[in-house]
Amino acid sequence: FIRNSAIGIVAGSALLESCMKVEPVPVSMAEDNFSNPLNIPKIIQNPKNYVMNAKTTQAKITNKGTTEIMSYLENIPTGPLFRMQKGHEFSTSFKNNLDEHTNIHWHGLVIPANMDGHPENIIHPNESFEYRFNVNQRAGTYWYHPHPHEATARQTYMGLAGMLIVNDTEEATLNLPSGALEIPLIISDKRLSNNNLRYNPTMNEVMSGYMGETITVNGTAFPYTEVSSTTYRLRILNASNARIYNLAFTNNLPFTVIGSDGGLLENPAKMTSLLLGPAERVDILVDFSSLKINESVFLKSNTFPDGSKAQGKEEFNFMKFTVKTIVTENYQTPARLSTIEKLSMSSKTRTFKLQMKMGLKMSHQINNKLYSSTRIDETVKVGDIETWIFENKSDEPHPMHIHGLQFQVSERSSKRGILPHEKGWKDVVLLMPNETVKVTMKFPDNKGKYMVHCHNLEHEDDGMMLQFEIV
Ligand code: C2O
Ligand code: CU
Repeated sequence: FIRNSAIGIVAGSALLESCMKVEPVPVSMAEDNFSNPLNIPKIIQNPKNYVMNAKTTQAKITNKGTTEIMSYLENIPTGPLFRMQKGHEFSTSFKNNLDEHTNIHWHGLVIPANMDGHPENIIHPNESFEYRFNVNQRAGTYWYHPHPHEATARQTYMGLAGMLIVNDTEEATLNLPSGALEIPLIISDKRLSNNNLRYNPTMNEVMSGYMGETITVNGTAFPYTEVSSTTYRLRILNASNARIYNLAFTNNLPFTVIGSDGGLLENPAKMTSLLLGPAERVDILVDFSSLKINESVFLKSNTFPDGSKAQGKEEFNFMKFTVKTIVTENYQTPARLSTIEKLSMSSKTRTFKLQMKMGLKMSHQINNKLYSSTRIDETVKVGDIETWIFENKSDEPHPMHIHGLQFQVSERSSKRGILPHEKGWKDVVLLMPNETVKVTMKFPDNKGKYMVHCHNLEHEDDGMMLQFEIV
């Protein structure tokens, strides 16, 4: 017995030591000088009985051949882009053509629990499910991806993800750049070897999250797009499993943040960089009018301002914009975008301690618990306003996500404070190491079971997820 436990301690401390030394694979720089045209997702307006499926297919990620991926569209490395007018019904008949179970979570949407892609509501191979719900929320940039417990990370990583945009009449009056001047950008890092997409995280990579050396945008590595010398609207989604980007442009080109996860901010905010964690969205305006013809600028990730152990030490470019048309147009950003009714912090609070447990088997937990489908961790009431406190005592970042609602960030303990793009409605909030963040929400009239979890998908699949029920 003593011998065994001594071995246990030795093994445990060896693990402890090795998990401190986690370094993500370095991002590969462009050998091909960004020559792959950006793929623009296929747009489906107000889907009604839209037929979609999940399958294994081949797609072009690099210019070196095709890669086997999972996708909602044949040979296309990103799902359809659903554009919904607020107030319309969304319906799709979804068939699972994979040889494993899956489902779809409509990330950021305020919809009934049985439509939300609860890990319990899985769709078996060759079976179909009808997703049908009313979209009755503010204009914004939302998204969708699979949510079967312990397979969310792999399936999303293999390519099952897409964007869902909601438009409304309030937003339409602002005349924001649209058509060719509005570009969706879904960022995701992949690990490719000889064009094979691999998902095989080691124990250390479960600790830090699985990161890839190849950054794709809308499923394409080293993408470029031609632009005019005017103002564009970029809707950016970080669909990466674990990688955080410190988004910026080369030459320190400034950009204007107009929206976040749950739609427009009250006021536009000029910035030169911002940290975008997994599952977060940011809606920005960028003005290319200072560029000359054939001049390029790159979307990049800067090193992180105050670093984290696992990532943020590298600086890399991942998308190229080249000005090909000079136009003289003087775009004026609206001074005010929207009205956001502020939720004051509530005296009804709940605390969620985010923990990394070391030992023979390392695991990610919340309040000393691993996810269990048979346990309701928190019960909340329709219409109640609560403040949830996320405490990150670990040395890993954790992007925390709550299903079925939008919240407001009320407080962050570190000197980062509440950032300009966090002043609107959110459904994910990024906690850097040793931060405590308070978020305030009002529970919608959708009774049922929803998830609260870390959106580092390796952490989520590792059990860093709890279940709450709205009653
Ligand atoms: Cu986008 Cu439960 O996640
Ligand atoms: Cu996490």
